Amino acid sequence: MKIDILTLFPEMFAPLKTSLIGKAVDKNLVDLNIIDFREFSNNKHKKVDDYPFGGGAGMLIQAQPIYDAIQSVKKDLSKVIYLSPKGKVLNQKMVQDLAKEEHLVLLCGHYEGIDERVIDLCVDEQVSIGDYVLTGGELPAMVLTDAVLRYIPNVLHGEDSTDEESFSDGLLEYPQYTHPREFMGLSVPEVLLSGNHAAIAKWREEQKLIETQKYRPDVYEKYTKRDK
Ligand code: ADE
Repeated sequence: MKIDILTLFPEMFAPLKTSLIGKAVDKNLVDLNIIDFREFSNNKHKKVDDYPFGGGAGMLIQAQPIYDAIQSVKKDLSKVIYLSPKGKVLNQKMVQDLAKEEHLVLLCGHYEGIDERVIDLCVDEQVSIGDYVLTGGELPAMVLTDAVLRYIPNVLHGEDSTDEESFSDGLLEYPQYTHPREFMGLSVPEVLLSGNHAAIAKWREEQKLIETQKYRPDVYEKYTKRDK
């Protein structure tokens, strides 16, 4: 998979160089590029923003540098995503679908946003990471990249799995424990020490329902009403 991230703030993406995503890049499991679209500005001072027509607060990013940056990376199979609070709110199903794409182009706005004509001309989909407003699309692009790359083969360690985690079957994950058996007076549930794999599997299934009902009643409600 290839991911090109277009931004005015490439230095914000340093966290993607660390941990599992950093390793995935080093191992060439993903071709991840951070592209500064200021480099595409036709302005001799590399200016990319201007005042909005009609007035209003703040500056807008102009269409030209973004348009040219997108054209420089876009191929027939590319999917261009603009990170925006107006977009469809990201969920695990969307992440799984995006992980099947060959090439994602993630466009990060900043300041008051971007000239609408870039969205009309180039953007296939707008994605939000939640109903709140951030200063730019950089953190959302990192969130999306991290969530998607977990589905690329060999990005997670062998023993990690996307099968049993929260949301994979519509429920939250069961609670987990490691040594010691007792901590601050709290014991590990007896069944997990029993060696009885069937009993453990049953307990975990029950716990998924209990956890979901407790922490995300909205998700639980949807799960109980799903088509079986
Ligand atoms: N840009 C600013 N806020 C955002 C959000 N919530 N999701 C995606 N992009 C954004």
